Amino acid sequence: MDKLIVHGGATLHGSINISGSKNASLPILAATLLTGDPCIIRRVPDVSDTNYMIQILSALGAEVERSSGTVRITCGEISDVAPYDLVRRMRASICVMGPLLARKGRAVVSLPGGCVIGDRPVDLHLRGLEALGAKVEVEGGNILLTAKDGLRGAEIDLRGTHGPTVLGTDNVMMAATLADGITIIESAAAEPEVLDLANFLNSMGAKISGAGTRRIVIEGVKELHGVEHTVIPDRIEAGTFMAAAAIAGEGVRLNRVSREHLKAITSAIEESGHRVEFNEAGDSCVIHRGEQTRGVDLVTAPYPGYPTDMQAQMTALLATTPGISVIKDTIFPQRFMHCAELKRMGADIKVDAGTAVVRGVASLSAAPVMASDLRASAALLLAALKAKGSTEISRLYHIDRGYEHIDEKLLMLGANVERVKG
Ligand code: EPZ
Repeated sequence: MDKLIVHGGATLHGSINISGSKNASLPILAATLLTGDPCIIRRVPDVSDTNYMIQILSALGAEVERSSGTVRITCGEISDVAPYDLVRRMRASICVMGPLLARKGRAVVSLPGGCVIGDRPVDLHLRGLEALGAKVEVEGGNILLTAKDGLRGAEIDLRGTHGPTVLGTDNVMMAATLADGITIIESAAAEPEVLDLANFLNSMGAKISGAGTRRIVIEGVKELHGVEHTVIPDRIEAGTFMAAAAIAGEGVRLNRVSREHLKAITSAIEESGHRVEFNEAGDSCVIHRGEQTRGVDLVTAPYPGYPTDMQAQMTALLATTPGISVIKDTIFPQRFMHCAELKRMGADIKVDAGTAVVRGVASLSAAPVMASDLRASAALLLAALKAKGSTEISRLYHIDRGYEHIDEKLLMLGANVERVKG
């Protein structure tokens, strides 16, 4: 297993391009199951999660070609059984369920396991697909969905105890595109990645309105056709590098971003005393590290609120920001695995009942630390940039799931990092 050695103390400068969004690419790749025509998707990041999705689609029978960030995919003859050994490795593969059911009238997908950030139920997905007329059975760890008379439009409320579901909204929206009649999704997720998927589906001939709001209306059509699409920028990668620049940068510039998608992250970073300057077009920004910085209180929320996927990275920044910060994760209350590792580096953090209380310390010190999940490992990397000494981060595969060539991008910014093949 690869390790990353981060020699703290280097000042980051210069500019990098942010990659296409992992969390938009995954459902968009799954949506190609809805047509037998070829689809071309650009700016798909080369990360293990998208590679897993491409492997799953190939195993289902799709023809896939990938050259740098462009994926050409044709789901001609496809099976309705998703391969367990691949699906079990990536929870997000659950988003093949909706398109498979709509295209084939049947879908067999293994129940996703939990993960370190918390129990990952799919009850809302199943409730939505059942409302569209699917028969749902769970046996032997597999979900078996059948709709031998096809799917029919319905009014569905997808709200759960922790708010809307992103992939649940995606699954129901994709299935509804080929249902007979009108589907209304109330309490829908409004993330930019859901809107990007809706735009992709509408380019395929779907009739979706309201995506990006809490109420999405889908008018079913008979069939969908092939399309070309460029994926939106990855707002979480951008936010991660914004935090890196606030920790150890001097005028770092990030290109290929979306100011609109970064509003909550930008305001949190500016509230703690740094400045983010966007260009006129809003697709590039420079981060100016503040002299007077202070702790902030953060509560994660569904978009457009502060994203749970940026909670760990902000904690790394606040660990050496003067003052007290209180960070509450309302979406994944257990998502604090990074705190124990940050404390090994000298951070002062108390975690209790879904909330972390961070007391800023003057500096952190290097220590061997272990990545536990995608965003937690990013937080450790950020903390190591300014820690005294050389930090060794093991289980790097967690980071490679969602960040495209993160060590190369950090090297381009002047960070002193080296990947050790393990
Ligand atoms: C998506 O996961 C993202 N993944 C996650 O990013 C992100 O953290 C999450 O949305 C929340 O924004 C992708 O887009 C591939 P949810 P998803 O369904 O859709 C509960 C990353 O780091 N829930 O929106 O699986 C659930 O337990 C990843 O890139 C139910 O109760 O998350 C959670 O508390 C990690 N029942 C809340 O809803 C359900 O049926 C939100 O989960 C589904 C979800």
